[in-house]
Amino acid sequence: MPKDKKYSAIITALGMYVPDKVYDNKYFESIVDTNEEWILTRTGIRERRILEKGGTSVLATNAALDLMQRHNVKAEEIDCIIVATVTPDMFFPGAVNAWGFDLEAACSGFLFAFQNGCALVESGQYKKVMVIGADKMSSITDYTDRNICILFGDAGAAVLIEPTEDKSLGLQDSILRVDGSGEDSLHMRGGGSLNPPTHETVDKKMHYIYQDGKAVFKVAVKGMADVSYELMQKNNLKSDDIAYLVPHQANMRIIDATAQRMGLSKDKVMINIDRYGNTTAATIPSCLVEYYRNGKIKKGDKIILSAFGAGYTWGASYIVWAID
Ligand code: COA
Repeated sequence: MPKDKKYSAIITALGMYVPDKVYDNKYFESIVDTNEEWILTRTGIRERRILEKGGTSVLATNAALDLMQRHNVKAEEIDCIIVATVTPDMFFPGAVNAWGFDLEAACSGFLFAFQNGCALVESGQYKKVMVIGADKMSSITDYTDRNICILFGDAGAAVLIEPTEDKSLGLQDSILRVDGSGEDSLHMRGGGSLNPPTHETVDKKMHYIYQDGKAVFKVAVKGMADVSYELMQKNNLKSDDIAYLVPHQANMRIIDATAQRMGLSKDKVMINIDRYGNTTAATIPSCLVEYYRNGKIKKGDKIILSAFGAGYTWGASYIVWAID
């Protein structure tokens, strides 16, 4: 955080959307060789939501509308919209009035987009920036691969970022990282400029996520725990100072390991993986929305957001909650 910045960037409004259709663990027993018990104990996931019609914009737009309705925000007030997603409807974005852009950083997408949104507000140039994390993961999931299909779900969630002169609130610090060594363990090789869609790429299932779960698990545990701990140390935060860890929801065991490293008890960790699975860019903001709505976050709470994803990309941000 630049020391001379004029404003601090705070979250002032939140919204989310999940589709109605549910795939529970039982459902997967009917399509691949798996069982409810394995899925729950290995991942912590009980069910996930699936968008049957439309693309990621349905998730993102409905999350934005939810935010606007609940917090009385008008579309024309919004200066900029940043959408973190790896599953855009199409490869070119569009908006009216506000400017905006998509940002792709896989499961760290929301964290990276949030950093960008906050910087726009801290600069004093923009007053209302909406950051949305939304992914229709079902569109790139191979439902014949038991290693992958049980993990992901579809969701969208949004936060509005505004400036305040009270620098003790809002985004205080971040550590964000990227490292291309993850390419072999976690990728989707088809669809981009390197492997544009052809019959061959489709036949080879190159438009689906590939993951070597075991390899990713190891680096995810270390990456997320290390960066969260480093951020605590850098900001002189003790475990007792922290109200919540908001971890990316990829696997309950990765979340537990991160919380343990930070010395946090379970009640200080935001969780919704059991109900939605891994929704990529939507995991962190959807946790914030649900805990905020349940009255569990209060002004002044010190919160660490932490993520790890494909690339590899990872990082953590330290915020002080600014609204009641
Ligand atoms: N049902 C039953 N068995 C399954 C299964 C399923 N859905 N999926 C995999 N298995 C099997 C494997 O084939 C393997 O069998 P084998 O030993 O005969 O080869 C066995 O279960 C163990 O697999 P393993 O990969 O060691 O399991 P795991 O404990 O690592 O859990 C993941 C698998 C995917 C849940 C876990 O590795 C994980 O969460 N990885 C990281 C995910 C992540 O953070 N991604 C980054 C962000 S997207």
